[in-house]
Amino acid sequence: MSDFPSFPAGFVLGAATAAFQIEGAAHEDGRGPSIWDTFARRPGAVLGGDTGDVACDHYHRYREDIALLKALGVRSYRFSVSWPRVQPTGSGPANAAGLGFYERLVDGLLDAGIEPAVTLYHWDLPQALEERGGWRHRDTAHRFADYAGLVADALADRVPRWITLNEPWCSAFLGYANGHHAPGAREGTPALAAAHHLLVGHGLAVPVLREAGAREVGITLNLDHVTPATSTPEDVAAALRAETQRNLIWTEPLLEGRYADSEDDTWEDLIRRESFRRPGDLEVIAAPLDFLGINYYTPSVVRNAPYRDPDPLSRTADDNRFEGVGVPGARHTAMGWPVVPHTLRDLLVGLRERYGDALPPIHITENGSAEDDVPAPDGAVHDTDRISYLDGHLRSVAAAIADGVDVRGYYVWSLLDNFEWAYGYSKRFGLVYVDYATQRRIPKDSYHWYRALIADRSRDG
Ligand code: NOJ
Repeated sequence: MSDFPSFPAGFVLGAATAAFQIEGAAHEDGRGPSIWDTFARRPGAVLGGDTGDVACDHYHRYREDIALLKALGVRSYRFSVSWPRVQPTGSGPANAAGLGFYERLVDGLLDAGIEPAVTLYHWDLPQALEERGGWRHRDTAHRFADYAGLVADALADRVPRWITLNEPWCSAFLGYANGHHAPGAREGTPALAAAHHLLVGHGLAVPVLREAGAREVGITLNLDHVTPATSTPEDVAAALRAETQRNLIWTEPLLEGRYADSEDDTWEDLIRRESFRRPGDLEVIAAPLDFLGINYYTPSVVRNAPYRDPDPLSRTADDNRFEGVGVPGARHTAMGWPVVPHTLRDLLVGLRERYGDALPPIHITENGSAEDDVPAPDGAVHDTDRISYLDGHLRSVAAAIADGVDVRGYYVWSLLDNFEWAYGYSKRFGLVYVDYATQRRIPKDSYHWYRALIADRSRDG
């Protein structure tokens, strides 16, 4: 590890999970159903018909999982709170039993010397809210701010770092445009309403969290590193469209208080044509952030493509008019995602160039790889590809810092193998292998590698 680049003092090395992906205990202590409980029961929606009913049984095994985090030596653990545990139908008073779980988890982490970082919304919308329109419906933004207040009132005295939403692009576009994620809608334009209402919900929650005593408030985006496949004007324009649809739709309103224009459609026009945008929304959305969370896995190389949807209004609401072409020569993870670590540095430096001082400090709130892990005859999991993935991306973060980007932390996705959404349990991202039949946890070689790296850093001070 001695050749590993150093990080600034106070740099946070952590690990992350999310409620629906690990907790299980879907019917306990008054938890209500979420859109993912419903979606997972739709035939064909999730590979193998997997559900979140048991997952990693973390709800019952959280003490064991805290012990794994403690032995790993991480300074911070990012987890999400399940909205339907706290408000089973998405509104009304807090369910004390549901909140109680997170109080115990937070206290256990603090006892282990680990800083909790809470994500409030990692995709498990209460089903009752979906039945009233879900994120298509403006009221959901208000419900989210109320829920944020309930959680922060209970935990903000002990939790320093708060993330409102995780990857709203997925909630809006995978949820309401292409239907790959819950609630599984393929509707086009309503996905734009969902995107807008997610942003409004975030903006409404920010002051609520601060009022309750949250010290650091941010949002986590899955920003893409996009390059055109060729230098033809068509492919260059396609890359700009992809960047608008993936990145600028979020960063422009959040950081600059405006909607992004793309070459021939403006989000602003589309949204103004609809009834969902209200005066004052952009001011709400642009509430100052203490940090920007970025989840990063893989770059996109795109080329021009024809419309795939005859509905002109929905054409920016899905991956239309551009398509990925892959990265020749790159290794691909078990997700089929090309591994090109320097693109993380390039993305970060590009953000700094675009936004300058308007760019808040950054936490890489997720980075990791799915690999075809199998315990070896010696009982260990020799995940050398994951180690090289993590090594490459951490070096890329260090390079971005050396180039002047203010990155404050990095969280590996994920502590545990878990429910990988539409892929069910077939994809393993963990530092710790989970044998789902027995719930036995086996720290992989990458866990030991990360532990050594963290230990090395603390020896350096
Ligand atoms: C991003 C999501 O936040 C997380 O839930 C998911 O498991 C990882 N990416 C890997 O796909």
